[in-house]
Amino acid sequence: MTHGEIREKFLKFFEDRGHKIVPSSSLLPADPSVLFTTAGMQQFKPYFLGDADPVKDFGGRRTVSIQKSMRTSDIDEVGDESHLTFFEMLGHFSFGDYFKKETIEWTYEFLTDVLKISKDRLSATVFAGDDKIPFDEESYNAWSRFLPADRIRKGPREDNVWGPPGPEGPCGAANEVYVDDMEVATLVFMEYNCDKDQNLTPLPQKGVDVGWGLERIVMITQGKGNIFETDLFEPIMKLLLDSPNKWLGRIIADHARAVVFLIADGVTPSNKERGYVLRRLLRRMIIQLSSYTDDFLAPISKVVDLYGSYYTFDKQMIIDVVELEADKFQKTLTQGRKELERLESIDATKAFMLYESYGLPFEVIKDLGREKAKGLTREAFDEEFKKHQEKSRAGAEKKFGGHGLLMDTGELKAGNEEELKKATRLHTATHLLHAALRKVLDPPAGGEVQQAGSDITAERLRFDFTFPRKMTPEEIKQVEDMVNEAVQKDYKVTKEEMSYEDAVKSGAMAFFKLKYPNRVNVYTIGPESFDPELKTEGPVEGHNPSSSNFSGPPFSRELCGGPHVSHTGEIGHITITKEEAVSAGVRRIRAVVE
Ligand code: ALA
Repeated sequence: MTHGEIREKFLKFFEDRGHKIVPSSSLLPADPSVLFTTAGMQQFKPYFLGDADPVKDFGGRRTVSIQKSMRTSDIDEVGDESHLTFFEMLGHFSFGDYFKKETIEWTYEFLTDVLKISKDRLSATVFAGDDKIPFDEESYNAWSRFLPADRIRKGPREDNVWGPPGPEGPCGAANEVYVDDMEVATLVFMEYNCDKDQNLTPLPQKGVDVGWGLERIVMITQGKGNIFETDLFEPIMKLLLDSPNKWLGRIIADHARAVVFLIADGVTPSNKERGYVLRRLLRRMIIQLSSYTDDFLAPISKVVDLYGSYYTFDKQMIIDVVELEADKFQKTLTQGRKELERLESIDATKAFMLYESYGLPFEVIKDLGREKAKGLTREAFDEEFKKHQEKSRAGAEKKFGGHGLLMDTGELKAGNEEELKKATRLHTATHLLHAALRKVLDPPAGGEVQQAGSDITAERLRFDFTFPRKMTPEEIKQVEDMVNEAVQKDYKVTKEEMSYEDAVKSGAMAFFKLKYPNRVNVYTIGPESFDPELKTEGPVEGHNPSSSNFSGPPFSRELCGGPHVSHTGEIGHITITKEEAVSAGVRRIRAVVE
């Protein structure tokens, strides 16, 4: 059975049993309390808690999905038979519908009937019980119908209570399901809300959250000794035959997958949070590859091709991000290596220096440093990292009047309410400016205007865009007038949430696409008094999945995280203060509002 067939069979099996197929959500969850989506249940958290209505959203109380998931906790295990950072989780869910008996029956049926795994290879664990949650007798009895008593073990809280993902949320007793010695699925019976202090309160309804590791079940079904020999990895592994050892080849393959999926969901390399995770994975992959090949794009490209039938990728965009980061890294790598060789031993302070000055992440220092870095632990390194972050945060607070930043979207920064108001006006002005530049400067005026950068403070906006020459004074005036006219018309600013694909199809401008998650916000400005003479980027004919009722093409339509004013009249008068070159083919405009 190919992995494709296993995917299909899983979805079909549960669809036949009344489950609605729901697509994977982004690796970047809407829930701000967690860094990544680590399980299939993440996108369904509100349904378990009773905060959202599954009947309204899915037409019923049962769903099934194949979820992209990311677990950095397993990074040190990557390279063995079965651990990964990025993986896919087959999951089925009940929100106040079926419970333990059906779940266990279907698990057994899917393993033995569909995947044809002999029942003699199966075992399960159930929760033994403690002072907070009782022994899971119901699961024990349900398993007893299929497995002999010596194959049903009673396990402790660490293994047999699952959740919540993040500091709080749904949790409950869990069964682990094993084939031979490998855990392939976890069946969670959600019954409690677990708060920050670990207090349990009963949920309004009981739920089921089942997760299967796709890679592991494919490995077992295909009779392989490890996940890297399955058809989910084999084409990538083939490219890595020259890697100095088996372990490194596997790390490269794992990291290449994680890198592709993270970038596809909008992460870019940085020194913070998600961006930092991506940077570590990417740099480690590059350094391992660079020990024997120049072609570090090959595994990336292969991952995109291999998963292209299941997920939508912008291959060029992914390659661009990887190349840019590789360029940055390679500039300091040789020096970093020399410095590392010079050092006699590497403790956390020295390791952090290597990271800060040469961009060598923890894993790379461990890999390259070998004996010298033996005493270096992740905890000590993270501690150094934290100290440094606190220092730089203190620096930022000083810069913003000691109050910290009230808002920092990367594009827009504000230290207090007043600054935020002003920056918000400038932000909406930036959208108008962008649209006006495209209307005035696009061919035949000389080139295609694309956003190349944007930076907004309470004082001014700064907008970079591609254009091959200096703007003429007339063109600047024309753009300024057009923006001020849009302000005078007091256009309404409307926000809609939709998938990235739908947003692009609806004609929204998306030049900062590197940053976008799967669900995006689209801000539309106008067009109650739309001027048909103007050149615009209106909805694509015959395909406008957006629910908006606009009658004509809007003045501006952009993917954006906000914040924005509600009507353009709030912006005030805009003056362009400067137009200059940033680099070949990129211009910069500064503007203020009064
Ligand atoms: N949410 C459960 C897990 O991640 C199924 O194992």
